[in-house]
Amino acid sequence: MTRTRIYLSALLLGVSQFALTQPVLAGGDIEVLHGWTSGGEAAAVQVLKDALEAQGYTWTDMPVAGGGGGNAQTVLRARATAGNPPTAAQVNGVAIQEWGAAGFLRSIDDVAVPGKWDDVIPAPVRNFAKVNGEWVAAPVNIHRPNWLWINAKIFADNGLKPPTNWDEFNTVSEALLGKGITPLAHGGQNWQDETVFEDVVVGIGGPDFYRKAILDLDESALKSDTMVKVFDEFRKIRGYVDDGFSGRDWNLATAMVINGTAAMQLMGDWAKGEIVKAGLVPGKDILCVAAPGTEGTFLFNSDYFMMFNVGDDKRAGELALAKGIMDPDFQVKFNQVKGSIPARLDVSPEDFDACAQKSMADMKASLATGTVYGANSANTGQPPAIQNAMFDVVTEFFNSDMSSQDAVNKFAAAIEAAK
Ligand code: GAL
Repeated sequence: MTRTRIYLSALLLGVSQFALTQPVLAGGDIEVLHGWTSGGEAAAVQVLKDALEAQGYTWTDMPVAGGGGGNAQTVLRARATAGNPPTAAQVNGVAIQEWGAAGFLRSIDDVAVPGKWDDVIPAPVRNFAKVNGEWVAAPVNIHRPNWLWINAKIFADNGLKPPTNWDEFNTVSEALLGKGITPLAHGGQNWQDETVFEDVVVGIGGPDFYRKAILDLDESALKSDTMVKVFDEFRKIRGYVDDGFSGRDWNLATAMVINGTAAMQLMGDWAKGEIVKAGLVPGKDILCVAAPGTEGTFLFNSDYFMMFNVGDDKRAGELALAKGIMDPDFQVKFNQVKGSIPARLDVSPEDFDACAQKSMADMKASLATGTVYGANSANTGQPPAIQNAMFDVVTEFFNSDMSSQDAVNKFAAAIEAAK
């Protein structure tokens, strides 16, 4: 056995003493494809890269720009179908099931079973990470897409209170418009439109309605009067964004809230990564509340690293990456930067900011009431064909004068056709 192989075996057995007393040896190269290119996201990648390199591996970075992970998925598909997949890729839940079913992934049970992942990862997150009963992806976090981020100074200066339902949101927004302040920072990209739309679905219809309409695709929910009301509110929101919203990246919208050119943003807590990066305090400088009417519902998406079935020489690296991702201390360090909360339920909230602490408490409460639901906007709901059908109608509505009833008809028909 070479020194390198001895080192690797020791590492996989978790003999950290050994690792500490040995010089860092080259553990091999791991190519990781991901979609994390904003300031906060890149800082989080660095935490992961450092952790892997500390184990003697070389991280070959394959970043694909474009929020929401859509572009990364396109590049990944092109690479994998050409027979050249990376070692590992950052994805959200639905993609794991698709790649797994297509036979591209390999089991990481060698670390997941001894690590007792089944005991510490909540079921909604775990279910996406297993294919045929075996772990094929390691969850690094849990994000919550249904947040409202608020510039505290703008609200204080104008005597406003965080809105708790959509009527209050409309009242606050009208007041801000009256003062010449853009109420809502928004980036007009389909997944961002859908993020806002799903907040309204939950906020107006409630968690059960969200599940029926968006996850179960129940026809009566999709064609209901409630859905008409959802589009009515979504139309109002269109009036609260600035003229330059079209095509804007989500992090540039977050920057508007950070620098006070807009008062609020409806966005997942990856926005908190930007807030932290800018040196502001989440929960103080930028307030975090559940999107209007969604308190008590925890929409989620997790980021996972799934492992491709590539050469045997990559096996040790994949297992080291998976094991490192699930290390509790690593999950603290990483998620402090990424804006999310740990994927593990057994990590203490004490080292996190107020917004993350709220997220951790809210998730546990929603796990108990069964109101943790995958966010379709963040690739944790429908398979791509249906997801895109939804995105198309939602975005078309936002950018036209389509009536709410027409939108409901179109939405239901597009989903039916995509099934
Ligand atoms: C999500 C991803 C998050 C976040 C966001 C914006 O799909 O899960 O980690 O980075 O996109 O790019």
